[in-house]
Amino acid sequence: MKIAVAKGDGIGPEIMDAVLRIFEANNTPLEYEFVDMGKWVFDKGFNNGMTPEAKMSIETLGLLFKGPMETPKGKGVKSINVTARKTWNTFANKRAFQTLHGVDTVFSKAGIPIDITVVRENIEDTYGGIEHMLTHDVALSRRFITRPGSMQVIRYAFEMARQKNAKRITCGHKANIMKITDGLFLECFYEVAKEFPELKADDIIVDDLCMKLVTRPDTFDVVVLTNLQGDIVSDLCAGLVGGLGFAPSANIGDHISIFEAVHGTAPDIAGKNIANPTALLLSGIAMLRHVGLTENAAIIENALLYTLESGVRTGDFGDRNKPAVNTTEFAEAIIANFGKKPEQGAKEIIANKPGTPAPFKLEQNSMMVSKEGEKEVITGVDMFIESDEQPHVIAHKCQRHAGVKFSLVNISNRGTQVWPTGSVYTNLVNQYNVRFESLDGSALSQQDIIGLYVSLSGNFKICSLELLNMWGEKKGYSLAQGQ
Ligand code: NAI
Repeated sequence: MKIAVAKGDGIGPEIMDAVLRIFEANNTPLEYEFVDMGKWVFDKGFNNGMTPEAKMSIETLGLLFKGPMETPKGKGVKSINVTARKTWNTFANKRAFQTLHGVDTVFSKAGIPIDITVVRENIEDTYGGIEHMLTHDVALSRRFITRPGSMQVIRYAFEMARQKNAKRITCGHKANIMKITDGLFLECFYEVAKEFPELKADDIIVDDLCMKLVTRPDTFDVVVLTNLQGDIVSDLCAGLVGGLGFAPSANIGDHISIFEAVHGTAPDIAGKNIANPTALLLSGIAMLRHVGLTENAAIIENALLYTLESGVRTGDFGDRNKPAVNTTEFAEAIIANFGKKPEQGAKEIIANKPGTPAPFKLEQNSMMVSKEGEKEVITGVDMFIESDEQPHVIAHKCQRHAGVKFSLVNISNRGTQVWPTGSVYTNLVNQYNVRFESLDGSALSQQDIIGLYVSLSGNFKICSLELLNMWGEKKGYSLAQGQ
């Protein structure tokens, strides 16, 4: 089997060489196609950080094993890591955090075992990076949570939990505040949960989750979250088991998957051959299992765990009274321990499965649309306008534009209602949301909205607008605080 390998920047080449040396010594049946990605590719003028040849190889092979990469700052280019995950729809980011014998943490010292797998949605949320300045003072970020995107990652999390023989799967969210976006994610979670009756499915508000993870980490098993919350929670979990040097990551898609360490390029120690290759090696081991090389994976993982248990360490962890080894020596110590089993957490050796099929070649983009339930009706519009006037003045002007079809129902500023009721103690910024609804509750057309837009633009700069949609009794919009 052939996979694409990008060594990355900073410590990337050092730790990747160490991991590939371990694979080679283990006779792992993999061939590598080295592809050009990373900072030096940006510097050559490729704005997505990869050459067209690299893109073609990855799309043909379906598997990328990558070292950490640096995205040049201040050049307006987007993160290569995020671009890669999004372009190839690696919708689930799986990070497994386990107590590693030999890596001391407060929990290992207290005898509290940790085995948590975090599945983070990897494409949507604020990571679309769709941001605008509405006025010179007001920035807006759009947060996309979609039903098909949520279903895809949540279904993966449940299937993975079933395979892992997990007892519990928990959805972390903030649906008490973001009722529409996180509410949709949570709704999808319980929809998928019905297909997995053997798993205890529950949910928890993300702040409470963080508190419980640091007080009772042993009570969690699989946790699934939206992108940004998942990003934060997975770094928190990395801290529970000894830091970023021990955090592997798999970006799973239907066609292409990317395996990488969670940490970055560590420019402060790059080129010194002292970096810890464990996180990348654990990611590589997960990749071997993903492609059915279960025997190779188990032998290497057992050797790694045995090495950690015996106190061999790079400078970033372990008993400071013992001398540290460098990256190459750490890899050689693991190779010397092939065939040995650790006292704790030994992996069962399961014979490799015969070759996995080549990735399915796509001819066009897949469209993911779920079945629409009730008919959609436009019942109003939110106009985001720029103004530094007082709310009652704005209301007076807006009412003149409402005409025979619309009624002005609410004005809010930063999400807090300031008209028809409000408080003079609410501080204002120069951007309001004025909400118009259909006067008699009847359906509106796009032309009605454009008519209002043209009229209102005589008085205000309209920065943005959103339709107020309804599906049956279900409102497709939130109410302002106080509305
Ligand atoms: P970082 O993870 O590179 O470094 C944070 C600290 O952890 C540093 O003190 C570093 O020496 C240490 N560290 C990280 N990995 C280590 C290892 N394997 N062994 C020993 N010590 C290790 O994070 P930072 O400094 O915020 O980012 C540096 C660069 O990496 C940035 O350009 C960032 O964009 C990029 N980055 C790339 C990622 C990726 O390719 N997936 C992920 C995160 C950051």
